[in-house]
Amino acid sequence: MSDTRYPSNRRGHIIGWGKALPERVLTNDELATLVDTSDEWIRQRTGIAERHIAGEGETTFSLSLKAAQDALHITNLDPIHLDLIIVATVTPDYPFPATACLLQDALGAQHAAAFDLQAGCSGFVYGLSVAAGLLAAGLYRYALVVGAETLSRITDWTDRTTCVLFGDGAGAVVLESREEPGGILSSVLGADGSGGELLMIPGGGSAHPTCAEMVQDRQHFIQMKGQEVFRFATRTMPEAARQALEKAELGVDDVALFVPHQANDRILQTAAKRLGVPEDKMFSNLARYGNTSAASIPIALCEAIEQERIKRDDVIVLTGFGAGLTWAAAVVRWSLPLPSPTPRRRTIVWRSLRFRWARLRSRLRRLWRRVDARLFNLRYEQDGRRKRRDEE
Ligand code: ACO
Repeated sequence: MSDTRYPSNRRGHIIGWGKALPERVLTNDELATLVDTSDEWIRQRTGIAERHIAGEGETTFSLSLKAAQDALHITNLDPIHLDLIIVATVTPDYPFPATACLLQDALGAQHAAAFDLQAGCSGFVYGLSVAAGLLAAGLYRYALVVGAETLSRITDWTDRTTCVLFGDGAGAVVLESREEPGGILSSVLGADGSGGELLMIPGGGSAHPTCAEMVQDRQHFIQMKGQEVFRFATRTMPEAARQALEKAELGVDDVALFVPHQANDRILQTAAKRLGVPEDKMFSNLARYGNTSAASIPIALCEAIEQERIKRDDVIVLTGFGAGLTWAAAVVRWSLPLPSPTPRRRTIVWRSLRFRWARLRSRLRRLWRRVDARLFNLRYEQDGRRKRRDEE
């Protein structure tokens, strides 16, 4: 396990946040027409009432882009100043290139390093911790961390034990390295690979490459041993939160709000009990979105801000668990005044022009790459002809 406390005064501060959810909402009653389940069972066992499902053309990248644009809107930061983009996801658009690179191109973040991070539902807090470490070390000034998923694409819609749980969405934060009090104070990241098979997609990787047989056996979908994951979650989430608070030299009573991974209301209730905090200190929006894996914590954070559950100087704890098995917690002292001021119309227009320019720039670069390849081939052929002539 890795514990990090950022000792210097330079820390990563959250200066922008955004979320994106597909329009299509799938209710429990609709699910009950697909598999042998009921609204009552799902609500009682999980707390979920509905979830958002990506439509045609919507992908992890497109949801990431919308969430990232919203987060950048709040900061008024030109994406050209971003130094780092991390996308935490288990459902990238492609095995490669990384979804973070697609995002880097679409945002016009020309100077940013970009990579995907895979740590299951703990992915966002893992990404936040990695970015915060680089900012605290003074290596970068601005970072964008996204948690985004289209779990509906890896869900077995014939398996009632899993398909009722998951949803799609994305959340993003922009971090700035600042030498002032507050920001991301500490984090705890952990893993126990011995529990890997409790929550996995067995097929499609190098162990079992994609083939007709593998697909026929439905090995390309999520498989989960729910009860064991449940036990693991109720043990590790409160423990990780406690350890991260200790690192930050704070106690549970100092926390204004816990923003946990949204997997099951019963897990949140048990975690609240184990931490000794009232249930209303555990933010929950599970009813409307289900489990959106790496996206769930940043989406919940955005909603907590929208609902004015977070104020300047509040201590909040982000905590998650997931496939791997992994767990993570981060302690943040909120350093920005809330609510953030509404931007003027002129500013909104200018920002959207910036994103249009990024799209145009991307197209021009693709075009130039084709022209450049043609010119290179021509030169290569000419050189070959000249060489042959010289030899004759
Ligand atoms: N509708 C109706 N009945 C169902 C359903 C359903 N959707 N699913 C299961 N059942 C049945 C089972 O077949 C079982 O029937 P049986 O007693 O006749 O055998 C009964 O309900 C009880 O099943 P359990 O699995 O014991 O139900 P449980 O109370 O454990 O709830 C659940 C299952 C909701 C999955 C729970 O275990 C859970 O939330 N686990 C944690 C999952 C999680 O948090 N995953 C997070 C990571 S996701 C990621 O990283 C991508």
